[in-house]
Amino acid sequence: MKKTMKGLVYGGPGKIELKEIPVPVIEKPTDALVKISKTTICGTDLGILHGKTPSCKPGTTLGHEGVGVIEEVGGSVRNFKKGDHVIISCITSDGTCEYCKKQMYAHCEDGGWILGHLINGTQTEFVRIPHADNSLHPIPAGADEEALVMLSDILPTGHEIGVLNGKVKPGDTIAIVGAGPVGMSALLTAQFYSPAKIYMIDLDDNRLQLAKTFGATDTINSGKEDVAKRIMSETKDGVDVAIEAVGVPMTFDVCQHIIRPGGHIANVGVHGKSVDLQLQDLWIRNITLTTGLVSTNTTPMLLKTVMSGKIDPNRLITHHFKLDEILKAYEVFGNASKEKAMKVIIEA
Ligand SMILES: NC(=O)c1ccc[n+]([C@@H]2O[C@H](COP(=O)([O-])OP(=O)(O)OC[C@H]3O[C@@H](n4cnc5c(N)ncnc54)[C@H](O)[C@@H]3O)[C@@H](O)[C@H]2O)c1
Ligand SMILES: [Zn+2]
Ligand SMILES: [Zn+2]
Repeated sequence: MKKTMKGLVYGGPGKIELKEIPVPVIEKPTDALVKISKTTICGTDLGILHGKTPSCKPGTTLGHEGVGVIEEVGGSVRNFKKGDHVIISCITSDGTCEYCKKQMYAHCEDGGWILGHLINGTQTEFVRIPHADNSLHPIPAGADEEALVMLSDILPTGHEIGVLNGKVKPGDTIAIVGAGPVGMSALLTAQFYSPAKIYMIDLDDNRLQLAKTFGATDTINSGKEDVAKRIMSETKDGVDVAIEAVGVPMTFDVCQHIIRPGGHIANVGVHGKSVDLQLQDLWIRNITLTTGLVSTNTTPMLLKTVMSGKIDPNRLITHHFKLDEILKAYEVFGNASKEKAMKVIIEA
């Protein structure tokens, strides 16, 4: 096997480079080495690049999403063997700690979001996956591997932190603020629970148009229209569930102005600064506010819905690149509105 490979390495704020790096090796008996076939870029990677995540140190290979084939497993890995096709979860979990026993893999005491953050990630040719038994999912025979890249992070994120935390129920009126990959994933998975009306809110008309084809019943361009005014005039007293999938104060503010008594605000966005919580108005409305980092505990369930054709995550993929072109892929993904990009697939 070769000794070096190409990897997209973070060099500090504003700096990334595709360079030759050592091929990882099995370090612990619970590790697996996965040969990446397809990976992608997340808004969170752009956050790292823009210096939002100081815990990610220069020299780290980025990326926490992908599918691939097992190259080698450590001595105590039981669920996987060389040659198996796998989905890499963005969350690593040992399956044994107090948090894992509560299915809060996000807070695993020897894992959590470490890939492409605290340890080298997936935007490369080979990646070392710790606690492989719990951090990988087998790909069923005949599956479309490319679509399953969406199961590493964005589909479970939209589903768990948006839809499940928001407690979407049949007949609900819901609003999703942000029509990026995560907001779109919330839109696709919310429909499992049959809401009656789904408002999708964004600044980008192209994304709103796409949201309509994904099942949004109503769209609002918040750059052109007063969202709260429109929703309050079209509903009795606001929405049952407001999902925040952007991560800026303004979009959180929209959510607190459109939520009806008894409603749920599910925050998904990663916020870089504080928001203005209008508790003086909200205290009397019996609302629930939730936050969270994805645990990916619903990935096996989501995989079944993809396999049965209930949802088609392929529709989120807009661009394809080779690993050699990854800097171009970052440019396209970083200018998503201009480039009409949603998810970009990078072939290793
Ligand atoms: N909680 C978690 O576990 C978790 C996991 C993954 C991603 N995230 C976060 O979720 C958020 C969304 O991720 P993404 O990849 O879809 O990001 P993205 O940047 O691709 O999408 C954000 C969307 O918000 C829109 N937007 C920006 N400002 C707006 C405004 N003022 N009003 C309305 N719309 C506005 C943009 O046009 C864009 O379509 C990010 O903050 C990301 O870091 C959270
Ligand atoms: Zn991500
Ligand atoms: Zn754990």
